[in-house]
Amino acid sequence: MLLRAINREKFPRGLDKPRTINSMKDSILPATAAHAIDFGYIQGAFRRIEAMRSSEVDPVEPPTVGELEEALGEAVEKCDLFAKNWRNRVYRIELAHGGFVLGKQLVMGTDAMLRHQYEELRALAALQIPKLCVPNTFALLPARRMLLIEFVPGKTIESLAWTSEDVVPACELAGKSLARLQLARTESIGPMPVEVIDRDLAMAPWRLSLRQKKILKSTLEKLAAAEVRMGHVHYDYKPANLIYQNNELFFLDIGRIGRGVHLWDYACFRSSMRRHLWRISLRRPHDRHRRTIVRQSLVAFEQGYFTSFTKRHPEPPLFALAVKLFELQRTAVFMTMQKAKVASGERLGNPLVNRLTLPLLEIEKRWLFRQLARELPR
Ligand SMILES: Nc1ncnc2c1ncn2[C@@H]1O[C@H](COP(=O)(O)OP(=O)(O)O)[C@@H](O)[C@H]1O
Ligand SMILES: [Mg+2]
Repeated sequence: MLLRAINREKFPRGLDKPRTINSMKDSILPATAAHAIDFGYIQGAFRRIEAMRSSEVDPVEPPTVGELEEALGEAVEKCDLFAKNWRNRVYRIELAHGGFVLGKQLVMGTDAMLRHQYEELRALAALQIPKLCVPNTFALLPARRMLLIEFVPGKTIESLAWTSEDVVPACELAGKSLARLQLARTESIGPMPVEVIDRDLAMAPWRLSLRQKKILKSTLEKLAAAEVRMGHVHYDYKPANLIYQNNELFFLDIGRIGRGVHLWDYACFRSSMRRHLWRISLRRPHDRHRRTIVRQSLVAFEQGYFTSFTKRHPEPPLFALAVKLFELQRTAVFMTMQKAKVASGERLGNPLVNRLTLPLLEIEKRWLFRQLARELPR
């Protein structure tokens, strides 16, 4: 808390300086794309792959201490690589007179994505959802495609899932916070966009059996009668992107926000948590206690979410079916990205891991089709 207060003083509205914003290159994504209603997440994955390919010809070097000091207006003690994946490098920057700043560098990304993350962090902070915080934004380093934001101590819900009972209250708060966010950002309540989702799923790089095609058709027919909330979708509202600390949540990774069906974010959290449950079951087959805790946290998430609404959209018989459909769409997004990664060889992540992930996604797909079949009336 103290650090937050100090940092607010030290870097007042650092990002509003036109000097930094104006030096960004033209975006390759039209500025309006983020505001259009978007149900085409598989098509979005293809667009992202294209954007990443174009950023490969525009590699970005790590920042120098001098650049960090100039952007922050503070002496920097050191800058360590804190986390790394094929998309980002995350640095922990220690300031000379105490305190830390987090530097997020988009390795496979564009200037437009950088600006988008910065704008969304500010927009979300302005909503002032109780107990849902976002890191303060301090500065942008466009030349390094880097965001400098508050370093949030604490553990992500993902890490709590493996280690702590706190995952239960954290998930309950994640459910409540998501509901509050959606209430603040509902633009309309209308029919489920089944045709658009159908067209999007048709682009998935998978093969469906006759039975799976039938299940999908019946699901879409059934859901055509469903009413859903629409508005801002955060896209990646998942345990790895939420830090739980002192009974507050910090939403870290506000990447590809757009407008769509709110249930996407609900399905995203659920599907991610379910995957953690599967991983825990595989890696720790004898740890029944941990599995029970994670199952409880899934229930807590659901309860936290529902207590905030007086009416569900859609109503219960269709709710679970709609959530499963979005989970399936999310799996299709992963398959799309994974196939592109495999095709890229070593450029996008570990090639062996990329290859091994594909059969797992196929298993998940089959499992989700069985779940859809279960939800359909006989
Ligand atoms: N502001 C922050 N404070 C502390 N840790 C952070 C912060 N932002 C990100 N992290 C850590 O770095 C990880 C990756 O950052 P994230 O923004 O989620 O990028 P990615 O797009 O690679 O998932 C997070 O899961 C979290 O552990
Ligand atoms: Mg993340």
